[in-house]
Amino acid sequence: MVTGGAQGLGLAIVNHLVALGATVIVADRDDQAIKKLPKNLEAVHMDVTQVESVRTGVAGIVDRHGRLDILVNNAGVISSEPFVNIMNPAGIMHDYGRFRESITVNLDSVFIVTSAVVEFMVKRRTKGVIVNISSISACGNEGQTAYSAAKAGVDAMTVTWSKELGPWGIRCNAVAPGFIGTESTRRALKEPILKHIQTDTPLGRLGDAHEVAQTVGFVIQNDFINGAVLNVNGGLRI
Ligand SMILES: NC(=O)c1ccc[n+]([C@@H]2O[C@H](COP(=O)([O-])OP(=O)(O)OC[C@H]3O[C@@H](n4cnc5c(N)ncnc54)[C@H](O)[C@@H]3O)[C@@H](O)[C@H]2O)c1
Repeated sequence: MVTGGAQGLGLAIVNHLVALGATVIVADRDDQAIKKLPKNLEAVHMDVTQVESVRTGVAGIVDRHGRLDILVNNAGVISSEPFVNIMNPAGIMHDYGRFRESITVNLDSVFIVTSAVVEFMVKRRTKGVIVNISSISACGNEGQTAYSAAKAGVDAMTVTWSKELGPWGIRCNAVAPGFIGTESTRRALKEPILKHIQTDTPLGRLGDAHEVAQTVGFVIQNDFINGAVLNVNGGLRI
C-alpha cells in the first residue's frame, strides 16, 4: 500500500513497484486524482490523518488480499512558514494552528497508518517492510519549522520501529528526498529559489521522481537494510 500514491512522488513509487511485480494499492484522499489512475490499479479512499478511515481501509485490503506486506508512508504536505515574519499584520509569529496541521498530516499520519498495518502483520505473523518518505528538511530547513520537525519525527520513529519490529520480521526504513522536480516543489518554491537550490546541489539539478521510486524499491528488496534513512538529494546539504 502506498499512501498519497495518486500523484507526485507517490505515483512514481506506485508505477515502479508495479513494474517490479508487486500488487500495489493506492491509498489517497484525493478522489479526483484517484479517478485519473489507470483502471487496473486498485485504489482506496483514505485520509491518513483519520484513525477510523485508516483502520477501515486497511482492514478492507487485508480482507480482499489476505495480507499486506509492504507499506510506503508517502502521503504528506510540504509546508513553509517563517518562525518570525515582522511584515505580517495578523501577527509576527508562526501560526500555531498551521504548525499543528503540518505535524498532523506529516507525522501523526505515519503513526496512524503504521499502527493499523503492523497490527495485522503481528497478529497474523506475516513479515513485512515499512518505508517512510522523509525529507532533506528533517535536519532543519530555514522557513519550515513544522515540516522539518515532522520529518525529523518520522526519522526518529523509523529508527525506533526498526528496533522494536525487527524481531517480528518487519523492517523499517526511510527515504529522504532532497528537492525533486515535482509539481508540489514548483508550487512550494519560486523559480529564483529553485535556481539557487540547483546551484547549491553538487550534481547541479533537481532530482527526478523515478530516482526516489528506485530507492524505495531497493530498500524493499534488500532484506538486511533496517533502520536506515537513505538520502536521495544529489549531495545537497542544508
Ligand atoms: N517533492 C519533493 O521534492 C519532496 C521532497 C522531499 C520529501 N517529499 C515528500 O514526499 C511525499 C510526497 O510528496 P509529493 O511532492 O509527491 O506531494 P504531492 O502533493 O504531489 O502528493 C501528495 C499526495 O498525498 C496525498 N495526501 C495528502 N494528504 C493526505 C491525507 N491526509 N490522506 C491521504 N492522502 C493525502 C495527496 O492527495 C497527494 O496525492 C511527502 O511526504 C513529501 O513530504 C517530497
